[in-house]
Amino acid sequence: MIDKQEIEDNVHWYKDAIIYELHIKAFYDSNGDGVGDFQGLLEKLDYLEDLGVTAIWLLPFYPSPLRDDGYDIADYYSINPTYGDIKIFRQFIKEAHRRNLRVITELVINHTSDQHPWFQRARRAKPGSNYRNYYVWSDDPNKYKDVRIIFTDTEPSNWSWDPVAKSYYWHRFFSHQPDLNFDNPSVQKEIFKIMDFWLKMGVDGFRLDAVPYLFERENTNCENLPETHQFLKNLRAHVDQKFDNKLLLAEANMWPEDSAAYFGDGDECHMNYHFPIMPRMFMAVKMEDRYPITDIIDQTPSIPESCQWAIFLRNHDELTLEMVTDEERDYMYKMYTKDLQAKINVGIRHRLAPLLDNSRSKIELMNFLLFSLPGTPVIYYGDEIGMGDNFYLGDRDGVRTPMQWSANKNAGFSEANPQKLYLPVIIDPGYRYESINVESQQGNPSSLLWWMKRIINTRKQFKAFGRGDIHFLAPANAKVLAFTRVYEKQVILVLANLSRFSQAVEIELTEFEGFAPVEIFSQNKFPKITGKPYLFTMGPHGYYWFLLEKEEGYQGSRDALPQIKVDRWEELFAAQTVARFEQKILQPYIRACRWFGSKAKVIKSVKIKENISLGDKERPASWLILDFQYNEGLAELYQLPLAWVKTTDEESVKLINRKSMIAKLSIGGEEGWLIDGVFDEHFRNKLFNHLVKRQKIKTNGDQLVFHTASRSALKGEGEVNSKILSAEQSNTSVIYNGTYFMKLYRKVDNTINPDLEITRFLTEKAQFSSVPNFIGDISLQHKDQTRTILAMVQEPVPNPGDAWEYTKDELQHYFERVLTLPKV
Ligand code: NOJ
Repeated sequence: MIDKQEIEDNVHWYKDAIIYELHIKAFYDSNGDGVGDFQGLLEKLDYLEDLGVTAIWLLPFYPSPLRDDGYDIADYYSINPTYGDIKIFRQFIKEAHRRNLRVITELVINHTSDQHPWFQRARRAKPGSNYRNYYVWSDDPNKYKDVRIIFTDTEPSNWSWDPVAKSYYWHRFFSHQPDLNFDNPSVQKEIFKIMDFWLKMGVDGFRLDAVPYLFERENTNCENLPETHQFLKNLRAHVDQKFDNKLLLAEANMWPEDSAAYFGDGDECHMNYHFPIMPRMFMAVKMEDRYPITDIIDQTPSIPESCQWAIFLRNHDELTLEMVTDEERDYMYKMYTKDLQAKINVGIRHRLAPLLDNSRSKIELMNFLLFSLPGTPVIYYGDEIGMGDNFYLGDRDGVRTPMQWSANKNAGFSEANPQKLYLPVIIDPGYRYESINVESQQGNPSSLLWWMKRIINTRKQFKAFGRGDIHFLAPANAKVLAFTRVYEKQVILVLANLSRFSQAVEIELTEFEGFAPVEIFSQNKFPKITGKPYLFTMGPHGYYWFLLEKEEGYQGSRDALPQIKVDRWEELFAAQTVARFEQKILQPYIRACRWFGSKAKVIKSVKIKENISLGDKERPASWLILDFQYNEGLAELYQLPLAWVKTTDEESVKLINRKSMIAKLSIGGEEGWLIDGVFDEHFRNKLFNHLVKRQKIKTNGDQLVFHTASRSALKGEGEVNSKILSAEQSNTSVIYNGTYFMKLYRKVDNTINPDLEITRFLTEKAQFSSVPNFIGDISLQHKDQTRTILAMVQEPVPNPGDAWEYTKDELQHYFERVLTLPKV
């Protein structure tokens, strides 16, 4: 059976995706011709799966003169023979899908190569004819004069003269890339045909290259025209009608308002890049101020429910500065181009690591922002290992060099003569492939690659990143960017220190009062949020993801707890009502407790097996042993001491540990709370006093025995001071007078308790000094001579942690080590 959530996840897969952008020629060369190919990509799919990405975006792989790296398409229906053929492409789709990797390809429809047969036919066709009108012609190069030039470094005009057609043709990019004429219905038909061809083959989505420029109209800037939007709506309707779960991703490098228009009312593109946020992330880190980020997100309109932004740090193009103000552009050039040659068009041709001075902390911080801000992150191949670039190569080739797999010849990318490679590998001293490569990073758990794997896989566990809304917090310290991402009940608090120095920041989190922040990477619990501003301290370029969780067992506010009214404490256990008390009050409480180990089982019944009264009229208390029966498997016994704390005073109620509260209980008209007795100091201290006196208490034929190794083993004069330890696993621990450690077992049994037996043997018989000495125990002695051990008392040992944490850490180190070993 497929459930609703699964369907929803499948339809909106792009919202939870992590996209990896790569060029087939740059990834891996399987046949030693110096150029990457589909066979090579097939061989590296394991790597991508291991990295944790969920979708691959392939740059253009069609036959092409490659004067714009394949964005100059000469045939839409086949594969550039250097990369492979349709057969291997099908195999690639199949293999990718088998690994749950979706495939996004390029649909370059604004223009073709001038070598495309359509253009060759058009330039020779009769002016005004249908074939001629596949492209946009004019006798006057001043037509559409309000239109900006995109490739400012190479193109003086958007018109070029064609000597064959004896006319000017329109091109928004290179002059060898004539624009298709979308006013011609035949062109539109061709586009639908191309889409159907690839979607039928199993492609999951298209990146719609240069999509704002499809139509031209006089006296406009020929961008974002209504006609373009209408065409995209038709395209979407066509896809939706014929296919399921496909994606249209617009490349619209526009201001947020214009960009958002490409979502339509949820009836145009599913996704669109958020271009303006990209340079602002770089600005924020350089300025050490959150404003550029908060400002651009504040300017971003909300988008239809089914839509999603794509966000990125770097891609195959220059770091474009088209969507910034003139001042901002000057700032970016000044801060991020050390060498003038790095400038190209309206941008900077650098990869991520060189932009960030190869600073590991900055690379982590920027990626952290990428994975935290709203949208689907897109990673550019090679940036996960911190590859360098080479802007001396011309155009944008410097960021398109071969993937660095190992320290071997050609960075392990190809067996070819190094001079035959489509582009040389990076040998810049700071980034040379001998040191920056996949193999060496795989073998080092502290490498950037491993850090990327961890953050990717961590992010995937939280839907709030892909689907949640964003709410900025405004702490006085502007160097700290703080926001929440909330999706359904999941709340994530994101903190990033944009500065290179340590920062302290106080954050107003009162709306989450009572929540416990859990730091997501370490799973460490931070102190509970109270009504006061919460203080965080952050290291240079530090970052945190906190899951804001209600404390375990917390089911909403205190007011949501069950309310019970009785005349006397004993009524709780009266024959007529006890079943209800067991099922409705005790069972749900225990189920939510950290120490209850059978959460995955279906509970058939819970019955009070023993009820030992330990209180008095003023402070009633009962020590319960509960019998849990399950649908499958053996029954289990758990102990739960119950106590009543009489109070209505809000201040004293606040002092009661929230985890311990079971119900609001009024007895004989007096208000109070039914709580787990261990959390009641009075009850706890009573246990200690009974131990000092080695008390025996008769109860229904059984006996509660407080035993110590010798009369003087446990001394207790004056006031007892007790404290519950916060590290809680399957037991609850109490320290008395700073001198005695009591472990209260939660799951109990009426047979031998090995923990107690071994400790006692080692202390009393073996006199082994490397265990904390046994001091005493509390047990229930049954009529049939069996015993149920309820608690053990030992000497406390000052320690830097506990065995549980130690084991977890050791296992983690072990797995990291094993995972980094070379595969056999
Ligand atoms: C956008 C692509 O990202 C870029 O690489 C290309 O040069 C232009 N479109 C023109 O096709």
